[in-house]
Amino acid sequence: MTSFTLNGQAVSTDLAEDTPLLWVLRDGLGLTGTKFGCGMALCGACTVHVDGAPTRGCSTPLAAVAGKRVTTIEAIGGERVGAAVQAAWQKLDVVQCGYCQSGQIMAATALLAATPRPSDADIDAALAGNLCRCATYVRIRAAIHEAARSLA
Ligand code: FES
Ligand code: FES
Repeated sequence: MTSFTLNGQAVSTDLAEDTPLLWVLRDGLGLTGTKFGCGMALCGACTVHVDGAPTRGCSTPLAAVAGKRVTTIEAIGGERVGAAVQAAWQKLDVVQCGYCQSGQIMAATALLAATPRPSDADIDAALAGNLCRCATYVRIRAAIHEAARSLA
């Protein structure tokens, strides 16, 4: 049995300890907001927070989150920075197909929590591993600046 905190709630699962966290979330616990893209830590679609740090769910075994705090896109709007990021995303109409956007929002929220007024270079560095096939990068960057302004 592996126990951890998921979106503020204590959870336990008897899935194998080497099960990728993304599978635990989607198939084991029914949280499908976090997406599968590449399965090889190359695209960022599966980004969640583990103890506040952006983490690739597809390449993180369940055992690695035992006793830790996992936050997913389903709950990030309940946090001040996450709510500001989601509001900015809506205001600037960032989303195109949407597939990558859970991961983008989780990466953006972690960035702003650590760096409240990021530069363009900070944003590009923090989100370099989050790919968007629809090329929404310009709007993502603008929305992060918008969220930073709203939080200031
Ligand atoms: S699905 Fe995890 S990084 Fe692509
Ligand atoms: S919005 Fe379509 S992949 Fe990013």
